[in-house]
Amino acid sequence: MHRIIKREELAPKIKLFVVEAPEIAAHARPGHFFVLRMHEHGERIPLTIADSDPGAGTITMVFQEVGKSTCELGTLEEGDSILDIVGPLGTPRDIRRLDTVVCVAGGVGVAPIYPEAKAFHELGTRVISLVGAQTKDMLIFKDRMETVSDEVHYSTDDGSFGYHGFVTGLLRDLLAGGLRPDEVVAIGPLPMMRATCKVTAEFGVKTIVSLNAIMVDGTGMCGSCRVTVDGKTMFSCVEGPAFDGHKVDFEELMARQTRFLAEEKLAMERYKAHAEGCKCRRK
Ligand code: FES
Repeated sequence: MHRIIKREELAPKIKLFVVEAPEIAAHARPGHFFVLRMHEHGERIPLTIADSDPGAGTITMVFQEVGKSTCELGTLEEGDSILDIVGPLGTPRDIRRLDTVVCVAGGVGVAPIYPEAKAFHELGTRVISLVGAQTKDMLIFKDRMETVSDEVHYSTDDGSFGYHGFVTGLLRDLLAGGLRPDEVVAIGPLPMMRATCKVTAEFGVKTIVSLNAIMVDGTGMCGSCRVTVDGKTMFSCVEGPAFDGHKVDFEELMARQTRFLAEEKLAMERYKAHAEGCKCRRK
């Protein structure tokens, strides 16, 4: 069992938990993820480690309530426990000192990008962060990103804060203005990562993305998370989740991400109809 020692509402339907998981905290590196189950009948939920504190034996997770399982997870309070957490999983990022890195984050993608920005920053790399969200209210991790970045630029889809438009527009402006980072790291929704790769391909800038393919076991056995990278089949959970974005077949991956939509909709309807209901939907 893993006790939740801190719970924070970062934005509407976006929550942060700090959870006791000493073994995972001791070995966590940027890019690692874990899989949790709330209870015996719970779906397996993969989440990237947003932060870890080996001294305190805790890991930080950030999630958005988008379906039945994350909605149910969001009902947990401080002091409640999560049944099991397996990790750290995946291949951690190979982070070394570079001259300049641009971290492009979309939505809750800013949480998994934070440990990477922090690691680059600690090595002395100049970190320029571009953080996008739908609205000002949905911008999270501002303080954290400002602490580990030399510059942070914001964008909102509705123009309520920072650049009015997608975060890829900000990136295009910077690259068109002559900036040539050694690497762009992009984490967010698949369309955002695909759009980022299109922009960086135009300017010939290496781009690493973190793929949120649907996972089941998280250890390379089920094949659920397979993606095509450079024409080869790869498992996001073992060989990823980070890949060279210019080699990822995003069209195939985006099509595969829709394969359980009907089941997800049904699960959400059943959950909402349940006597306890879903606290997050009542707000
Ligand atoms: S989640 Fe099963 S192979 Fe990756």
